[in-house]
Amino acid sequence: MSAKPVVLVAEPIADVGLQFLAQCCEIITPWKVGRAYNAEELARANGIIIRLAKVTASVMDAGPHLKVIGRHGVGVDNVDLKAATQRGLPVVFTPSALTMVNAVAEQTVQLMLALGRHAVAEDQFVRQNRWAERSSLLGVEFYQKTLGVIGLGAIGKKVAAICQKGLGMKIVAYDPFVKAAPSDLEVTLVDSLLEVLQQADVLTLHLPSTAETAYLIGAKELAAMKPTAMLINAARGSIVDSIALAQALQRGQLFGAALDVFEEEPPALDHPLLTAPRTLFSPHVASMTGGSMARMAELVARQVVQALTGERPSYVANPDVYASQA
Ligand code: GLV
Repeated sequence: MSAKPVVLVAEPIADVGLQFLAQCCEIITPWKVGRAYNAEELARANGIIIRLAKVTASVMDAGPHLKVIGRHGVGVDNVDLKAATQRGLPVVFTPSALTMVNAVAEQTVQLMLALGRHAVAEDQFVRQNRWAERSSLLGVEFYQKTLGVIGLGAIGKKVAAICQKGLGMKIVAYDPFVKAAPSDLEVTLVDSLLEVLQQADVLTLHLPSTAETAYLIGAKELAAMKPTAMLINAARGSIVDSIALAQALQRGQLFGAALDVFEEEPPALDHPLLTAPRTLFSPHVASMTGGSMARMAELVARQVVQALTGERPSYVANPDVYASQA
């Protein structure tokens, strides 16, 4: 190929990633002029980098020159992996512990603390001259409370470590893929989802979005939780039945819920969760710190270039795509 390969960067990524790409590729950044990419840009692209945009089979078919799909982030549920494999397209992503584990874990803990200490209301009471009402803001103290972790991968473990070492919480975890507790933490691994639901004062989810995890937390699971418990979700919206959660909150079945992720993003403004009591939301920003955005941008860009130059990248979500070359 004599002309430079074309990489369509469909959503904003940090400059370090763009600079890396610019050394050897033509980059298309439609977001810089405030718009989504168009069909012509996709048709020219040899690589596409996305954050939350979906890459379906029809998107792939509309990009006949595509050689690689780069997912800036750890979850790859917005890419049709099967369709990519069928078309011989590697899907590279940025799961390494160095990229965004700390950022997501810190946001998870801040959601927990902010929900338990009524952070939004505290701020409003000062601004709105409601000082006299401050006794209504009785907060939760987390020391010696039980954190229930579902999914003890890198992020789940980091949340457990912060909560245990920093806040003195006990940790109970459920992860059918983890057979032994991490050696540097005191974690009680339980065999069933029910046990973690029943024991948790704070339930935090750290799972990918798959057919198996869809609605893992529904009405029955919410009913098994303590009425004083809180649910934190900075993983994927699909894991929780959001209507059941809104109903449980309306009935006072839980202390509250703090969510960074939603079944539909952004959630419809009339979604019952948005008017449910004792909720705190953030707009899918858990991985978004300056450092983690730079690391993800750099890693996704590097791997897209590797794939375009025929090298095998380190993190490929559909390794079968290379099976025939093994
Ligand atoms: C963020 O949600 C990610 O999957 O990276």
